[in-house]
Amino acid sequence: MPRVLSGIQPTGDLHLGNLLGAVLNWVQDQQQADSLYCIVDMHALTVPKQPGEIGERTLELAQVLLACGLDPEQCTLFVQSHVPEHTELGWIIQCVTSMGELRRMTQFKDKSEQQEFISAGLFTYPALQAADILLYDTDKVPVGEDQRQHIELTRDVAERFNKRFGETFVIPQASIPRIGARVMDLQIPTNKMSKSSDGGAGTVYLSDDLAAIAKKFSRAVTDSDSEVRFDVAEKPGVSNLLSILSALTQRTPEETAAEYTQYGPLKKDTAEAVVELIRPIQARMAELKADPSATLALLAVGAEKAGSIASAVVERAKNNIGLLPRR
Ligand code: AMP
Ligand code: TRP
Repeated sequence: MPRVLSGIQPTGDLHLGNLLGAVLNWVQDQQQADSLYCIVDMHALTVPKQPGEIGERTLELAQVLLACGLDPEQCTLFVQSHVPEHTELGWIIQCVTSMGELRRMTQFKDKSEQQEFISAGLFTYPALQAADILLYDTDKVPVGEDQRQHIELTRDVAERFNKRFGETFVIPQASIPRIGARVMDLQIPTNKMSKSSDGGAGTVYLSDDLAAIAKKFSRAVTDSDSEVRFDVAEKPGVSNLLSILSALTQRTPEETAAEYTQYGPLKKDTAEAVVELIRPIQARMAELKADPSATLALLAVGAEKAGSIASAVVERAKNNIGLLPRR
């Protein structure tokens, strides 16, 4: 069975972009692959946080992921900081990654522009992400389009390491959905939907009440002509609605476009499809929240399973580098 690993940060509420770009594919992959999903709390440290904030968010995200359909019988769900090998291999990977490579990362450029205090960790973040992936002999990394560059870097660094120190790491591949890999903001459809975008009118959160979700779609920005056509450059708002509805109905955006002549019905059907996706997730979420200790227990089992794979791979890396083994 192929090995799958992906990660998500415990910051902000999960939104429709996370679902379509990543999490729904994780739910599918768990049936066909040996899958590990990691809540990357160490990555969340790269931008300043209040004491206690990350822990709360981590538990909440674990509950959301379970509510979305991750099944601990079928996959390994765990917290990055519970498996210290991530930071250990992260350091080793930093030392085979160049400053030039890190400087080219667009996520760093975007995020550092929003920060007054730019931590060194924000800069070296992709090396820790590479370690997350390489620690599990990962074949496939299901992510949204914005992560493609980080996976490319992971491949480059793993190949460099293997050349320098001998075959150590499996070279992973990004797995990016054909539709839904880049869900755009409903108000500014040239920007990607994101959890940090303020205001919230353009972002559909899993925690939004269902009436609010319908309203966000009815107010979604389209354009002044009224032709329903999939054309991302000329009609970004309409194309975004078509992509969302298509991802949820297993059609191509062109097929979906052929069924509509007006924006109103397209908005209404897209809203309905999203509401029906989110309704059962919210119901399961309420059950999980009532018993946090059950989720904590699942995360402990996940960390145990992940740790046993990770420790063997770190040992392999250290041996191949030739660090002096401890007696
Ligand atoms: P993040 O919210 O940045 O931690 O991202 C978690 C996962 O969701 C990653 O695989 C991202 O590629 C994916 N993702 C985030 N925003 C979007 C979006 N607007 N459209 C599609 N995928 C997204
Ligand atoms: N950088 C990813 C994001 O911002 C999160 C992430 C961290 C990740 N480690 C990972 C994704 C490993 C895939 C695999 O969304």
